[in-house]
Amino acid sequence: SIKAFLFDLDGVIVDTAIYHYQAWKRLANELGFDISEEFNEQLKGVSRMESLDLILAHGGLTLSDDKKNELATQKNQWYLELVSRMTSDDILPGVPAFFAQVRQAGLLTALGSVSKNAPMILERIGMSDAFDAIIDGTKISKGKPDPEVFTKGAAELGVSPAECVVFEDAVAGVEAGKRGGMFVVGLGSSDVLTQADLVAPSLETLTVEQVLEKASV
Ligand code: BG6
Ligand code: MG
Repeated sequence: SIKAFLFDLDGVIVDTAIYHYQAWKRLANELGFDISEEFNEQLKGVSRMESLDLILAHGGLTLSDDKKNELATQKNQWYLELVSRMTSDDILPGVPAFFAQVRQAGLLTALGSVSKNAPMILERIGMSDAFDAIIDGTKISKGKPDPEVFTKGAAELGVSPAECVVFEDAVAGVEAGKRGGMFVVGLGSSDVLTQADLVAPSLETLTVEQVLEKASV
């Protein structure tokens, strides 16, 4: 039976996905090309350096490691400027109500994010205490679609993958959950999140009961 819910952060709990996109777009523009929203789907859930590699390949650029580190640092500075004004008002619709139901149901929770900024973001939105375990980009060696971020979360909670449900807005994140042997709820479009076991537009349109019912068949 299901014992734990594992949540991605960016694009699931809080709308930071848009800020990652804006910062990467600004970087691409400075390098002389553009990235579309459609291209950005590939970047969601992917680590900072792997995202940069995908963007540079998209623009047809090959750069030294020193230059790449400089660009990744620049992107992160722009991202930090964008998120510095965030508050608990930026928590996505439906999240507080859904978490209340999760607690009511006695389920364990973990954060599974490849972002190194995740603890700072949780602090800003006042959700640092909402999780029983927090796995972020500093605790993993492989980003999504590798399942490490979720399997580590399950291990820290002391549950098996089959007892977990993952909530994800990213193609790479859905794949990570599936490769980890978990039931995956995709939040977004079913045309994009084709590997998810269940898709909903956001947590606002789901109840814990519905998820448990679907995940338990
Ligand atoms: C993921 C985001 O949560 O974290 C990606 O979906 C981002 O867009 C990745 O690249 C790494 O984040 P950070 O904050 O460590 O650069
Ligand atoms: Mg995400």
